[in-house]
Amino acid sequence: MRTHLTVLIISIIVFALYFKIGFLIPQPSESFRVPEADLLRKEAMRRGLKPVPVSWHDALHYVDNPDNPLSAEKIALGQRLYFDPILSKDRTINCASCHVLGDGGDDDRPTAIGFHNQPNPKHLNSPTVLNAALAKRQFWDGRSPDVEDQAKGPIQAPFEMAMTPEEVVRRVKEDASYVEMFKKVFPVEGITFDTVTKAIGAYERTLLTRGSFDRFLEGDDSAISEKAKTGLDLFMRIGCKGCHTGISVGGQSLQIFPLRRYNSILAPESRFVNGERYFAGFRWQKARGDEAYPFPDIGGFHGRNGQFLFRVPILRNVTRTAPYFHNGSIEKIEEAVRIMARHQLGLTLSDEQIGQIVAFLETLEGDPVGYHIQ
Ligand code: HEC
Ligand code: HEC
Repeated sequence: MRTHLTVLIISIIVFALYFKIGFLIPQPSESFRVPEADLLRKEAMRRGLKPVPVSWHDALHYVDNPDNPLSAEKIALGQRLYFDPILSKDRTINCASCHVLGDGGDDDRPTAIGFHNQPNPKHLNSPTVLNAALAKRQFWDGRSPDVEDQAKGPIQAPFEMAMTPEEVVRRVKEDASYVEMFKKVFPVEGITFDTVTKAIGAYERTLLTRGSFDRFLEGDDSAISEKAKTGLDLFMRIGCKGCHTGISVGGQSLQIFPLRRYNSILAPESRFVNGERYFAGFRWQKARGDEAYPFPDIGGFHGRNGQFLFRVPILRNVTRTAPYFHNGSIEKIEEAVRIMARHQLGLTLSDEQIGQIVAFLETLEGDPVGYHIQ
């Protein structure tokens, strides 16, 4: 009996301490301040956020692939193929139809539209191709290891470019200038489906972008606003960067989504004030959308093996890639951030905090660097 009581009291104390319950423990009252720019930068770097290099020599450190060594000629060949509609059955679609480089690297549609105006059968949203080479896996369910392997998918998918590998090879061989280029770049293998996708992959490896965030990380305090700095601080403190991490701010792992479902239950509500998480009471949580997601389950896609496992999206350029989530059913970035905080971290953010995080995300916008490649 005594031990039970002791355990109960200790549990209450631990619980109260952890959640900083107002009536048991005084709320933090000191005014919370974002660290000085230099400390914030050091903290960001310590936690694995990194600038995209300005020079191709330094960028190679992140993007080179020993199985597909990069060269200026191979990249130029891949660039031509990326924009060439002969890779699609009716010669109308190229990679850039769904991955527009100057506009966030995607198509701004909820779901991709391919050959004969067919929508993606699972209603999947086109992710950005920008910085995709920095990701550890490709596709929403991470089923492909790299951009070279990934490129084989859309060319063959009946609802994207609807080709066969044989037809690709036949068409590329018809063009004398391609024959010439392949001879130089792949003297041994020549024109094969593999070398076509290797060249495209090589080009994709150059599609890195830099934003004001990179200049901030390199030491320019004034590159980003105070609001964005507060947003970056929040992004790190509340735990967004636990999943959206690394040089591409995402793309490094598969994670469950949603981690919390709140379907018509009385759920605890936590907020983040003065640099600390605290328990703010209970709130009746009615399911929005349906049971699977906090938005409509259009397409019925449930991640890898139906286990709600998703490759964490890359957040570089995310403010230019609306609509959001795998099925593109959320239009506004603010709503996407609110859902993430609530369902991945169990936090209810204020509108002001969401605005700060969005201001930080905007600093991740940038166009392809345009490396000088020798
Ligand atoms: C009809 C539109 C469409 C076309 C054409 C298309 N894609 Fe995609 N792309 C998508 C969609 C949709 C996905 C997500 C599919 C999935 O996860 O199953 C995707 C995923 C990708 C990814 C993975 C990005 C990531 O972060 O996971 C890359 C890289 C990519 N495409 C490159 C290409 C290349 C290269 C081509 C041309 C050979 C191409 N795409 C053609 C729609 C398209
Ligand atoms: C536990 C891992 C995890 C945490 C923590 C997390 N995310 Fe995510 N995030 C994901 C996954 C997985 C998805 C993709 C879900 C889907 O599309 O179904 C995602 C999607 C997103 C998207 C939409 C991206 C797109 O291209 O559609 C944004 C924006 C985002 N997260 C921002 C954030 C922010 C801001 C935070 C912190 C408040 C955060 N995330 C915390 C795993 C996480």
